[in-house]
Amino acid sequence: MLHNFFSIFVQSIYLSHMSVNTSSKLNETVSWVGKWTFVLAAAGSAVGLGNIWGFPYKAGTEGGGAFVLIYLLCILAVGLPIMMAEIMIGRRARKSPVNAMKAAAIDSGQTSKWQAVGWGGLVSGILILSFYSVIAGICLNYILIAANPTPDISSLEQFNIVTSSPSRLMFWHSVFIALNIMIISAGVISGIERMVRLLMPMLFILMMVMVVNAMINGDFARGLSFLFAPDFSEVDATTFLRAMGQAFFSLSLGMGSIMCYGSYMPQEENIFKTSLTVAGLDTLIAILAGLAIFPIIFAYGLEPGAGPGLVFVSLLSAFVDMPLGNIVGPAFFALLSIAALSSAISLLEPSVAYFEEEKIVSRFSAALTLGLFAWVIGIGSVLSFNDWSDISFIGDLNFLDSIDYLANQFLMPIGGMMVAIFAGWFLKPDLALDEFSGIHLVIFNIWRFFIKYISPVLVAAVFIYQLVS
Ligand code: TRP
Repeated sequence: MLHNFFSIFVQSIYLSHMSVNTSSKLNETVSWVGKWTFVLAAAGSAVGLGNIWGFPYKAGTEGGGAFVLIYLLCILAVGLPIMMAEIMIGRRARKSPVNAMKAAAIDSGQTSKWQAVGWGGLVSGILILSFYSVIAGICLNYILIAANPTPDISSLEQFNIVTSSPSRLMFWHSVFIALNIMIISAGVISGIERMVRLLMPMLFILMMVMVVNAMINGDFARGLSFLFAPDFSEVDATTFLRAMGQAFFSLSLGMGSIMCYGSYMPQEENIFKTSLTVAGLDTLIAILAGLAIFPIIFAYGLEPGAGPGLVFVSLLSAFVDMPLGNIVGPAFFALLSIAALSSAISLLEPSVAYFEEEKIVSRFSAALTLGLFAWVIGIGSVLSFNDWSDISFIGDLNFLDSIDYLANQFLMPIGGMMVAIFAGWFLKPDLALDEFSGIHLVIFNIWRFFIKYISPVLVAAVFIYQLVS
């Protein structure tokens, strides 16, 4: 595996020099080469720990089917319109989120201060990457653990062994950040495009293997009814808020990841159709993850509402007891790691793109510096599992939870709401219509209605609720 990564890396550097040379002769901007690359890259960004680790445990604690239904509504009413707005703003400027927001504002006769939305995205991208990488590092470590489970140790003890060791967490956190730096510094085409073309099919195949495994080894009927038969008795205001937050995080919105990937989208691609495809794939993978996990949880008599430890503790114990568990287990954690890697690169790319575009430093130096920056902040998250577990930062939250709170509950909803308010109220409608080229006028008007009235109000409701609760 590592050998493969390395050879891809070496080839990538070689190719990135070729593509930079040719593209700089033709024009300044970069475009994805393959027709499906935008969809793969955006789906790669969207499908991550949020889908395979977050969605199942949240659906598990929020009562299953009812949560899934509300989640789908949030994807359609809030996620899809904002995703279309982000891609549209990115593609028309063909620049990093900071400069894309600035260009859209200036071209609409508004203040260039709207670029602050882009800046907020860069900062939160690095913040999210810092703790995302620590959790992804645990997933990498679990590939080995699931292949060779230590006998006579419960899966909870195993999880405690992993998280109580700062040096172990640091090692895997460093490996994960290094992979990110390698891919991003190899360039948009030779790094990101190449990687998502390799990783996304692998992810899909592994997911299918896991669902088939759940059909064979799990209680599939019970898993199905848990996910699809809605029980509204568990639903309250917080279910809506959790579902909305999850939809936002899962679609990678509000932080420039999608705007940045949109800036590489070829002009002839249809923004509405691609957004629909990306949102659909993201939802499909989240539901497949539920179908891979819950039948196993039920068959082995485990608790669906176990919370964040659902995959690391509950699922691991099932793999240990399962026939061929030492193959299926590592495959599951490899799936999780791959999904995390293709998401993490989209957290680093917007700021690297900005540094490169402004010619502050080369792509390689930007990737290295910003990656190291996220790595250093991540040390706080490593320690919050052990040495710093009693130290509170924001309120009574430890370091990891504080950064998570700051980024997810604060910067991300504000970013998404600002994108919606900007696109709905300040951006010239003609500019949007122009960029959505080929869109049916009815769909365009529905989009306008949602981005103006529905999406910002719903996001604001979540945001305000979180502040007061
Ligand atoms: N969507 C990813 C997940 O589900 C995480 C992610 C990547 C993200 N880029 C993002 C979340 C930008 C918010 C904003 O795990």
